[in-house]
Amino acid sequence: MAKGRRYLIAGNWKMNGFKKDGKELAKAVAKHLKAAGKDDLPFDLLVCPPFTLIRGVGKAIKGSGVKLGAQDCHAAEKGAHTGDISAPMLKDLGCEFVIVGHSERRTNHGEKDADVKAKAEAAIAAGLTAIVCVGETLEQRDKRQTLAVNRRQVKGSLPKGANARNTVVAYEPVWAIGTGRTATPEQAQEVHALIRAELVKALGEKAGQAVRILYGGSMNPKNAKELMAQPDVDGGLIGGASLKADDFWAVAQGCL
Ligand code: PGA
Repeated sequence: MAKGRRYLIAGNWKMNGFKKDGKELAKAVAKHLKAAGKDDLPFDLLVCPPFTLIRGVGKAIKGSGVKLGAQDCHAAEKGAHTGDISAPMLKDLGCEFVIVGHSERRTNHGEKDADVKAKAEAAIAAGLTAIVCVGETLEQRDKRQTLAVNRRQVKGSLPKGANARNTVVAYEPVWAIGTGRTATPEQAQEVHALIRAELVKALGEKAGQAVRILYGGSMNPKNAKELMAQPDVDGGLIGGASLKADDFWAVAQGCL
């Protein structure tokens, strides 16, 4: 809030959990928010379960203030795309957010910037907020390509019509995801500042300053506060630590 942007703490559950676990985790997260009194907190809390759990989790968090999101969507509105899920379907389930272009999707499903952009635009058209992920690999960082790679990904993946309401950017260095190796606050801020500059260039000063930029990659209760204190870090996209309600909540405390 001090930065004029509300923090977003987003849990990316990835491919984890069955009905019972999902419900329990969601309820435990909601309980923390309720106990804290949701009105005067400087952050939004979001959970992004796998597709199979969205409905149950939605029921479990109903009325709690915890927001609901998904981890991917197809770029088309509907049609012959066996096994895929469209953005309007997610909206229909009560989602407000969808992650697009996560590095695991870029790697495992060959998604390119143009695909990510198309998905983000589909999300916006459906009334969702797209969380657009970017980030360099270790090899790219070692070759000193970090800034160039992130610049290229932001430019290529940013949806048309992006604004602070419909778009969030997440910087997730691939080498920090699930590895326990976190970017230092300085490393994170360096890239966040670059992303901020690209957003301002693309969207103008006001909107560019208003879009939230999350950090993701082994964020945990210990390192969250330092990361979130950086001028352009507006929250986190949290994998492993979002699977335990207490840890997820402790990460959110880093915003205070
Ligand atoms: P991690 O995952 O927190 O487990 O590193 C983050 C992410 O991939 O979104």
